[in-house]
Amino acid sequence: MKKLLLVTLTAGLLVTASAQASEAPAKANTCVGCHGMDGNSVVPNFPKLAGQHAAYLEKQLKDFRDGFRKDATMTPFAKGLTDEEIKALAGYYAAQAAK
Ligand code: HEC
Repeated sequence: MKKLLLVTLTAGLLVTASAQASEAPAKANTCVGCHGMDGNSVVPNFPKLAGQHAAYLEKQLKDFRDGFRKDATMTPFAKGLTDEEIKALAGYYAAQAAK
């Protein structure tokens, strides 16, 4: 019984890992250092993006990009993003499980 549970859990983890890898938009590579690959930042002063509402994440990224929200660290990374890239990033992080 224990063995079966372990196998099930492992399979589940593998499926999750591959799904996340294939879904991550290309631009997420520039965010990984601070926010983690799946949006679960490990450093407290970098906010967790995983599981936040897509509409909220989209607005924050546009606000950083367009100068309505200012942060010396974050703004440069939002500057180069198009509306489509922002939508893809927001959807990706919103779909990740918060840990
Ligand atoms: C060098 C570190 C760094 C990188 C790289 C970085 N960020 Fe951030 N990010 C931050 C910090 C710091 C904040 C918090 C800013 C503040 O306090 O207002 C933040 C805030 C955010 C927020 C707002 C979160 C909230 O809860 O309001 C979003 C969304 C976000 N980042 C997305 C991204 C995306 C998408 C990328 C990649 C394109 C990225 N960040 C790259 C450091 C970084």
